[in-house]
Amino acid sequence: METALKNEPAKVKESEKIKMLGKLYGVGVGPGDPQLLTLKAHRLLTTVPVVYVPKSREESGSFALSIIDSFLDRGRQEVIDLLFPMCKDQSGLAQFWEKSVGLLLDRLEKGLDVACVCIGDPLLYSTFSYLLERIIARRPDLPVEIIPGVTSISACAASVALPLVKAGETLAVIPATYEPEAVRGLLRQFDALALMKVNRVMDQILPMLEEMGIRDHAVFISRCGTDQQEIVWDLDSLKGKELNYHSILLIRTKEPIARRASGALSEKKSHV
Ligand SMILES: C[S@@+](CC[C@H](N)C(=O)[O-])C[C@H]1O[C@@H](n2cnc3c(N)ncnc32)[C@H](O)[C@@H]1O
Repeated sequence: METALKNEPAKVKESEKIKMLGKLYGVGVGPGDPQLLTLKAHRLLTTVPVVYVPKSREESGSFALSIIDSFLDRGRQEVIDLLFPMCKDQSGLAQFWEKSVGLLLDRLEKGLDVACVCIGDPLLYSTFSYLLERIIARRPDLPVEIIPGVTSISACAASVALPLVKAGETLAVIPATYEPEAVRGLLRQFDALALMKVNRVMDQILPMLEEMGIRDHAVFISRCGTDQQEIVWDLDSLKGKELNYHSILLIRTKEPIARRASGALSEKKSHV
């Protein structure tokens, strides 16, 4: 009897500790149109006490935040909007991630749920992946839930009603930040390519498409789903231009892409 009583306080403490730990949500907010937020993401973002928005210096303002801003209630919810430097070498970002992990763990260990929002899907070329690895390394017992989002690739293909791949075809998704020459090999190998972050390498990619005779096999889509969406079929018109970070080049290597646009937004901004 005495032993049981002695053990009681320890048991209570342990259960309290478990109850105190909040849940970390990785939330995809889609590519830009707030209507592409899932019902699940919307429900969470309107109720969760802490919303964390990591944003790169390359973005002007936070794109993810602009998508969800109207759903948030800053009187009730804490919004942590953190800028981090853009480094090719991720080790340069260690300090930033440590600071972010510290901030989030502080809230999570107080029992607060935290939603970390990302453009598109949280597990596709997303900052959330770095955060997740680090936070789990510090708290392996942390409950985590991922709410997938509509990817920018899906939204861009939809904006031009382009079936990206059919039947046994292959699709390569490329960050387009590595050696543009490597893209040449992939153009030969795959049926379709989605070049993310293409803004930085467009002037190197264009002559390659020209040389391979596939310039009319591609379409450039920028800020898809926003009122600044642009669809460009005449790729020459992009030469030497400063392009927006939120841009993708979709390529079908074996056949030209039929020029078409779907939806009111894309019709308004389509450059044929
Ligand atoms: C860091 S990645 C994020 C990808 C995102 N997690 C997803 O699921 O689509 C950023 C790249 O996604 C693409 N992107 C994101 N939003 C976009 C949009 N609205 N229109 C066109 N491309 C977009 C661009 O290629 C941009 O450089």
